[in-house]
Amino acid sequence: MNGLEAAVEAVGLRKVFGSIRAVDGVDLALAPGRIYGLLGPNGSGKTTLIRLLAGLARPTAGHVRVLGTTMPDRPTLGRIGYMPQAEALYPDLSVWENLSFFANLEGSPSRADLDAALALVELTDRRGAPALELSGGMRRRLSLAITLVHRPPIVFLDEPTVGVDPALRVQFWTHFRRLAAEGATILVASHVMDEADRCDELVFVRAGRVIARGTGAELRATAGTDNLETAFLQFAGLDAEGRPVAGSENEVGER
Ligand SMILES: Nc1ncnc2c1ncn2[C@@H]1O[C@H](COP(=O)(O)OP(=O)(O)OP(=O)(O)O)[C@@H](O)[C@H]1O
Ligand SMILES: [Mg+2]
Repeated sequence: MNGLEAAVEAVGLRKVFGSIRAVDGVDLALAPGRIYGLLGPNGSGKTTLIRLLAGLARPTAGHVRVLGTTMPDRPTLGRIGYMPQAEALYPDLSVWENLSFFANLEGSPSRADLDAALALVELTDRRGAPALELSGGMRRRLSLAITLVHRPPIVFLDEPTVGVDPALRVQFWTHFRRLAAEGATILVASHVMDEADRCDELVFVRAGRVIARGTGAELRATAGTDNLETAFLQFAGLDAEGRPVAGSENEVGER
């Protein structure tokens, strides 16, 4: 890792659900100040991997260290921002109540921190609305505010911009880049290829394993294409129309 101390480190990580090997031997080291993209088909293990890294699930084998501490570890949880794929909001509580409830679980945020988080996701004028009245994209935005309000140095985002409109999506990425410049370590799971191209490094998983990693340019070169989506399909064992390539694992059916 070029002499840099890894902020997040996984060694021999596995997670098994019955007969499903959701994460199947992952070694990973993530450096501070960088944005990593986590790519892979549906069911390839991205969410499971993030939950293991965030200390929210126990590995079947292997271990995770975050900021030098083996996870799960309660105090370290407070230094991690985790935005789940399916947001967990209290529908009857207002935007403001949801934000302050979750922020207070992680510490004692100032009023200014709460205001700044709401402003970032442009929900200031909806602060009094019950969460159940928000649109899908607005719920995503509130979930992001909750994730970032305590300014965690480690940030895991599981498809953070699903349902978020293009203008706000660009603002989110500008903000992620600012957080990285301030030293945060950021891992973003995404299916959006232009987002993947904003990452410093991509980690491509398939069937619970890391099958490729590098910059977008490196992955394009490996796949022999100038198009990241084509590279993605190739890594996923699919042809340009999304059909399984003969001899690939996909031929025998999806897991
Ligand atoms: N709690 C669970 N119990 C049983 N199986 C699970 C559980 N969580 C995940 N799995 C299985 O583990 C595999 C990986 O799932 P995971 O949610 O990590 O994939 P993913 O890459 O995040 O997919 P997506 O792109 O659809 O979000 C899938 O086969 C899934 O059904
Ligand atoms: Mg997922």
